[in-house]
Amino acid sequence: MSRALFDAALQAARDFHAAIPALSNFAPWPGDLHWAGRSPNPVPRAALMQSEPGEASDLSRPLQQALCALAPHLEWRLTYTEDEVGRDFLDRYGWFELAGPTGHYRTDKLRMTVGYWGAGLYYPWHQHGPEELYSVVSGGALFELEGEEPLTLGAGDTRLHPSERPHAMTTTDQPILTFVLWRGEGLADDPQMSPS
Ligand SMILES: [Fe+2]
Repeated sequence: MSRALFDAALQAARDFHAAIPALSNFAPWPGDLHWAGRSPNPVPRAALMQSEPGEASDLSRPLQQALCALAPHLEWRLTYTEDEVGRDFLDRYGWFELAGPTGHYRTDKLRMTVGYWGAGLYYPWHQHGPEELYSVVSGGALFELEGEEPLTLGAGDTRLHPSERPHAMTTTDQPILTFVLWRGEGLADDPQMSPS
């Protein structure tokens, strides 16, 4: 039953990718996608994402609704430790790999992840080898990127994070739901906290 929800979310992601030029210009939709399946590990943030997904646009609402329907069926990941980000962050944040080298769908061409952060969370400076394009599905946050002006992004907005360039994100009075693409070498790597 959940497979149908995943297929619906993948189609909604494909429609969103096609509708936003920054996403479709960053990388073409992968032609090698196939279902892999991952064991679900529902956690408190799944319910939070469903109850407080943040404000969507007309364009992003179908993807928001499809992703929220997946929440209890996902293999959620946290990556960071309590020492790095704090307990409250870990309790109200989570991400999953919709498609990629270790995703619910498998592809070696691209990594597509979805991240959720509750309101009032600070995601400290971090970096990674693959280039990254963030897009906002719903809610919003302040995006910081070393060497650039900070930007407040809302539904439908995007921001590019170059390879190994430190970036950070802060949610204020609203949560954020993001659809994120990685391209380049090291698609299965974890981000690293930037040296302070
Ligand atoms: Fe990143």
